[in-house]
Amino acid sequence: MDVYESIGARRDVRNEFTGEIVDEVRLNRVLGAAHAAPSVGNTQPWDFVVVQNPSTLARFAGHVAECREDFARTLPPDRAATFGPIVVEGIERSGTGVVVTFDPSRGGRHILGRHTIDETGRLSVGLAIENLWLAATAECLGVGWVSFYREPFLRELVGIPAPVEVVAWLCLGPVTALQAVPDLERFGWRGRRPLADVVHRESFGSDDFPVEDRSTLRRQ
Ligand SMILES: Cc1cc2nc3c(=O)[nH]c(=O)nc-3n(C[C@H](O)[C@H](O)[C@H](O)COP(=O)(O)O)c2cc1C
Repeated sequence: MDVYESIGARRDVRNEFTGEIVDEVRLNRVLGAAHAAPSVGNTQPWDFVVVQNPSTLARFAGHVAECREDFARTLPPDRAATFGPIVVEGIERSGTGVVVTFDPSRGGRHILGRHTIDETGRLSVGLAIENLWLAATAECLGVGWVSFYREPFLRELVGIPAPVEVVAWLCLGPVTALQAVPDLERFGWRGRRPLADVVHRESFGSDDFPVEDRSTLRRQ
């Protein structure tokens, strides 16, 4: 797979995990891809906690189910009906969770490039996650990002010390297939915006930049 194929095939996975555990060789490769990401000041502020203990996965899944219910209760009836059938996690089915963290103290006090924009540290962790996601896609593995959790719960669950912050729980595992269309689009929650709406020339909001439609990347 070249990089455009991987970008086009990548999907957030919840329903398609096979139930098999990812093998250590591919797990190492995708973690290596994550660790090869760019980072502000070359701080590499991420860590990855691989979680495969079934009782830990079950405890986290229970917590996520509660957070899902909390969110559902905030929705107006029409959105609640759309949300109902949407699965928001594949924690136990994937068999592997990768907890991705950000250590704001890594690199010391004088971080080249973070002195004016503190957020660049967390953004660097986001790039590591995208590297992992694309590499997993190239390995025919699925990834599902779960953010339906309360930070203190996950921090305690896997023993994350201060000042390290939790950024994500990623479900990772073999899949039967990757959907061509995102779940949230298929279930009518929200679709992709056209590329032409988000690319501007010279000033924000201008719409005179001719662009190819994103469907060139999407698998048919
Ligand atoms: C920061 C972040 C948090 C997300 N959290 C969740 C989540 O908790 N549950 C879920 O089902 N999907 C989650 N997703 C996946 C998005 O819903 C998904 O990326 C989006 O619908 C587009 O689909 P695609 O990734 O398949 O293109 C998250 C994605 C990101 C980037």
